[in-house]
Amino acid sequence: MNRTRIAGIGHYVPEKRVTNDDLSKLMTTNDEWITERTGIKERRYGKKHEETTATMGAKATRLAAERAGIELEEIDFIVFATLSPDFYFPGSGVLMQRELGITHKEVACLDVRNQCSGFVYGLSVADQFIKTGMYKNIAVVGSEMHSMGLDYSDNGRHVTVIFGDGAGAVILQPDTRPDAGILTTKIHSDGTHAEQLAMINPGCHGGYHGDKEKYNYPDPSTYGGIFFTPEMHDENMLYPDMNGQFVFKMAVQKFPEVIMEALADVGLDKSDIDMLIPHQANLRISQFVQKKLGLSDDQVYNNIQRYGNTTAASIPIALSEAWQEGKIKDNDLVCLAAFGSGFTWGSALIRW
Ligand SMILES: CC(C)(COP(=O)(O)OP(=O)(O)OC[C@H]1O[C@@H](n2cnc3c(N)ncnc32)[C@H](O)[C@@H]1OP(=O)(O)O)[C@@H](O)C(=O)NCCC(=O)NCCS
Repeated sequence: MNRTRIAGIGHYVPEKRVTNDDLSKLMTTNDEWITERTGIKERRYGKKHEETTATMGAKATRLAAERAGIELEEIDFIVFATLSPDFYFPGSGVLMQRELGITHKEVACLDVRNQCSGFVYGLSVADQFIKTGMYKNIAVVGSEMHSMGLDYSDNGRHVTVIFGDGAGAVILQPDTRPDAGILTTKIHSDGTHAEQLAMINPGCHGGYHGDKEKYNYPDPSTYGGIFFTPEMHDENMLYPDMNGQFVFKMAVQKFPEVIMEALADVGLDKSDIDMLIPHQANLRISQFVQKKLGLSDDQVYNNIQRYGNTTAASIPIALSEAWQEGKIKDNDLVCLAAFGSGFTWGSALIRW
């Protein structure tokens, strides 16, 4: 069976920088609070009406394809991960396919809705398709246009200050080298605490899933399970919400656990890791994981300070930057790890 290699990688971040001070003009927050708790100094926001999750994904994919030395037409499968899709449906995969003009041949698109773990999930799925020989050039994309869907009032400040826009992509191909490429992927989920980090509306739940007051579910007797009503907008029910402290506690437990699981699977040790690219959730979470694994500063790549949390895009953006900066070399053991809404979490080990 083939192994899978990352043949090309690219990323795109919008030009517009939004600093913590900029946000403090919109809501009651300040640079000190945000920096201390998250490490974030600024994030990028896409250009409204010009840029979308799909167009940013297309830019990252073009660069990844160029670096892989393939024509866009050679891409035979697109795996697109996002929580901020252009449309409710169809997914952003087909919109990016159209944007890239590769509709003339039989390209399949799969949309992944695993939020912060979306890229690792996408990579894991794509890896199986390469291994079985079904596809030869798979684009795995993570892209987010969070800025279009955040609550800029004080109600949403605990969420809004964290997130930013951007996209990253890889081209996967079969790898004929022995013991190189993607060595293993591990993916997990547990929906017990689904509402702790979620955007519940608009949705088709009709108030079904339990405690509506606690989780901001609309009252089904008022809404009758209607997918979207103007009241949902008026009553601030259309934004993501998060129990930050709960998420933090889960994250610091799951990140090391899933990294150790991947290492054990291929008989390696944490001391074998050359570069850890954690999902950029919060600098404090990354630092906790770094300490737990006994890694030095130059063995962990963080860019959340400049981009905030870009959810499905954060790992491919960080991987692309680390590679561009020469921090990942041939034969290095690269570890990707993610945790997020669902909860879902996962890891990947790649011999570069
Ligand atoms: C979100 C997070 C930064 C909040 O930090 P925290 O220390 O848990 O803060 P809390 O939510 O307990 O709020 C502390 C206080 O700050 C206030 N606050 C919340 N957001 C604020 C903001 N942007 N600016 C200023 N004050 C803010 C709260 O209202 C609260 O005030 P109070 O004590 O008067 O009630 C932190 O919990 C976190 O990073 N969690 C993980 C989130 C994450 O990684 N999410 C992505 C997962 S993929």
